[in-house]
Amino acid sequence: MPTHEKILLKNMERPGYGGTLPEYLAVGGYEAVRNVLGKVPPAEVIERVKRSGLRGRGGAGFPTGLKWGFVPKDSGLPRYLLCNADESEPGTFKDRQLIERDPHQLLEGIILAAYAIGCHRSYVYIRGELVYGASVLTRALHEAATQGFLGQSVLGSGYDLTITLHRGAGAYICGEETALIESLEGKKGMPRIRPPFPAVRGLYQSPTVVNNVETLCNLPHILTRGPEWYAAIGTEKSKGTRIFSVSGHVSRPGNYELPLSVTLRELLLEHAGGVSDGRALKAVIPGGASSPVLTPQHLDVGMDFESLAAAGSMGGSGGVIVMAEGTCMVQVGEVVARFFHHESCGQCTQCREGTAWLHKVLARIERGGGRREDLDLLLDVCDNMTGKTICVLSDAAALPIASYLRYFRDEFEAHVRERRCPLAA
Ligand SMILES: Cc1cc2nc3c(=O)[nH]c(=O)nc-3n(C[C@H](O)[C@H](O)[C@H](O)COP(=O)(O)O)c2cc1C
Ligand code: SF4
Repeated sequence: MPTHEKILLKNMERPGYGGTLPEYLAVGGYEAVRNVLGKVPPAEVIERVKRSGLRGRGGAGFPTGLKWGFVPKDSGLPRYLLCNADESEPGTFKDRQLIERDPHQLLEGIILAAYAIGCHRSYVYIRGELVYGASVLTRALHEAATQGFLGQSVLGSGYDLTITLHRGAGAYICGEETALIESLEGKKGMPRIRPPFPAVRGLYQSPTVVNNVETLCNLPHILTRGPEWYAAIGTEKSKGTRIFSVSGHVSRPGNYELPLSVTLRELLLEHAGGVSDGRALKAVIPGGASSPVLTPQHLDVGMDFESLAAAGSMGGSGGVIVMAEGTCMVQVGEVVARFFHHESCGQCTQCREGTAWLHKVLARIERGGGRREDLDLLLDVCDNMTGKTICVLSDAAALPIASYLRYFRDEFEAHVRERRCPLAA
């Protein structure tokens, strides 16, 4: 098993570590805030994050420093930093662990990001279901404020920051950054048409950066240990470590923090203990339910953003779902399509109607009522749902289904031919 240093999960794996402020301070917590605020100019902080090569961990993998650089300095409007703690992608549960087990690491990351972009009011948008996480963050915010890490002139630096926790109601679409902004403004969480992008006109029509929990948690380490240290981990274009949430038919499900140079084989076989009950591997979803599926032929693919894209899938949210031989891919498709249909906000016809069609046709095939023309119909619907809508939820629904048909067409055909699910017990 390759050796590696954990960065984000390190503190919480220390025996007895509870994530309180005294415990965080005892392991060097808030050192970056002490050394950066009022001492390193914000533009230099952005430069260091650019040099680190850090890319967003929320789904798209966009370079973090570059995104911050898009925020106009002279708009005369307040700037906002929003922490995306909505963690909605099926198969993904890493942000939850970061929030619940080491909340001050996240708060320190938020303070550093807010300072870098000149924001004085930041919000954490947390998924409604994360009741415990919200209570942990509430306690941590109180601790940080009473010890001078938040509020007026943080640690005497002259920099002011307030962080407010906002609880969502548990809609997948509210994880999409513009829907999150709408929801935070008190409206229904529906994505906005871009441009303008949030960096220019986001929350309350002011410059806004939205960053994922894991992305922000990397910042204290990058700013303490230096961008070159961080950039030496991972691959040429995918730097640092990533937390992979491994679930499904696997011996040791859980969150694994590994350098982005890890392969799927190493992650599954060496770290997660391989497929459970000694069964053969059938398929793997490498980046949450919206990512196209991979098969055993892809086991040597790198888990970095580029290698997964080259293999026809994506890194997405880092949620790795393992499926053993015997899993029905039509049923997987039905479940995935049902989810996206339920979560579509309904603004775009292609998404609203397309997700409904996908679910309806897949359910029909699974129940033995499939027609021969259904398979091409599914591909046609997928094609019409891709690249044509306000946000990429529509693509996220279509691309996985098309991939199940690409790799498992025989199985779909067998369902139609035999008028039943051949894998049903
Ligand atoms: C439908 C949809 C759902 C999303 N859900 C999440 C989510 O739960 N958490 C998250 O961080 N990003 C989510 N994203 C990505 C965000 O829109 C955004 O890109 C991300 O928060 C940016 O942070 P990053 O640059 O740190 O990755 C979602 C995107 C889409 C299209
Ligand atoms: S693609 Fe779907 S979720 Fe996104 S805006 Fe359109 S209807 Fe809403």
